[in-house]
Amino acid sequence: MPGIVIVGAQWGDEGKGKVVDLLAKQADAIVRFQGGNNAGHTIVRDGETWKFHLIPSGILYPGLTCIIGNGVVVDPGVLLGEIDGLRRNGVDVSGLKISANAHLIMPYHIALDHSGEAKLGKLEIGTTKRGIGPCYADKAARLGIRVQDMLDEKILKQKIMAALVPKQLMLRPFERDPEWAPKLDLQQMTEDLLAYGHRLEQHIADTGTLAWRSLEDGKLVVFEGAQATLLDIDHGTYPFVTSSNPTAGAACTGSGVGPRAIDEVWGIAKAYCTRVGAGPFPTELHDETGERMRSAGHEFGTTTGRPRRCGWFDAVALRYAVRINTMTALAITKLDVLTGFDRIKVATRYRSAEEEDSTTFDTFPYHQTVLHHAVGEYEELPGWTEDLTECRTWADLPDAAREYLAYLAEVCGAPVVLAGVGPGREQIVWSDDAAQATAYAPATAA
Ligand code: IMP
Repeated sequence: MPGIVIVGAQWGDEGKGKVVDLLAKQADAIVRFQGGNNAGHTIVRDGETWKFHLIPSGILYPGLTCIIGNGVVVDPGVLLGEIDGLRRNGVDVSGLKISANAHLIMPYHIALDHSGEAKLGKLEIGTTKRGIGPCYADKAARLGIRVQDMLDEKILKQKIMAALVPKQLMLRPFERDPEWAPKLDLQQMTEDLLAYGHRLEQHIADTGTLAWRSLEDGKLVVFEGAQATLLDIDHGTYPFVTSSNPTAGAACTGSGVGPRAIDEVWGIAKAYCTRVGAGPFPTELHDETGERMRSAGHEFGTTTGRPRRCGWFDAVALRYAVRINTMTALAITKLDVLTGFDRIKVATRYRSAEEEDSTTFDTFPYHQTVLHHAVGEYEELPGWTEDLTECRTWADLPDAAREYLAYLAEVCGAPVVLAGVGPGREQIVWSDDAAQATAYAPATAA
């Protein structure tokens, strides 16, 4: 059963969409398995830029089944906006299937995401304020509204009423706010959801069965993660994380297939590191080198437009991500952004930022206090000055860039199968030995 999982190996925004887009050519189905419209994927195709938040980017391939799995949280208004946008641009969206069991982000989830962050003050997580956390909280509390509920007026109203009861106190300030009050009105919410349900009905399906059929037929299914390993609610830098599991194990629970359906796991990592929102970031640069990475890499959030924090490649965190996901391969994106840096640094160990503490460690610390004080200890590699954006084969890369990638593979403990050298879908190079590491490299990469 050929199933490949694509996960972010760092703190998100690694360019997973581009790699999924690349594999989509060979796939029968693509499944998003967690997260919601907190994610943002940008695909550049024939000079045209496409931005996706919920719909798998594979939708641009005619005939491909694009699944929003049960593990995703869906804001139906945002989803319909994306569908309408695609239709306006002549894209056939009939391959889009939405799990009947996926949970809906309700207006009160968005309100609570705003007030929750405001109350945390200095401890703010820096969420995308899209209602993700409160929606997953309701799912766990068994107070969630699911996609299938939009098709049944009676059940829908009852469930919304039940979900509102424990939130009354927290929602009171919003009910007095003229902007929020209409959105939080029970009747209005019910009517809006029924209208959304009517429009989405043709896409609602038993998506676990659809994925299973493709796998049973021996066809490739790509499981597309959103966010990334270090934002995982269990394995990331809690509490500065998202509210789902963006790691490989969740590909199964979030889509309704078993672990034996997965034969490869690829981690996607930038050639350096970025993070949006708060939380520990041991290799963060607060100087002009970080500033340079931000402007060269256009490091501003796709969803919120916030400037991303930037830093050197963190091999300690990457080794952890390789292990947590049992990664079979790494794809390194945005290599071109490092052109012109004299020396390139890679953190291979951490040490404490506290002067009196001289311990160093080469595994990712589980203890939050240790992690919050950790800073990188670096190896330095020579940089390159050549523009990489026209490179299309491994041999086209300058020696120093090839050496950098080989070094990353060695210190992370996973083979690098490809590198991204620009935003365009054709701007990638497969490594010479990619065909040994994956069944999905083109034959010419061997
Ligand atoms: P939430 O997912 O909106 O609850 O935000 C929780 C944390 O995850 C915040 O630090 C966000 O900035 C971060 N986050 C959520 N989605 C993404 C993403 O797609 N890329 C990078 N960071 C993200």
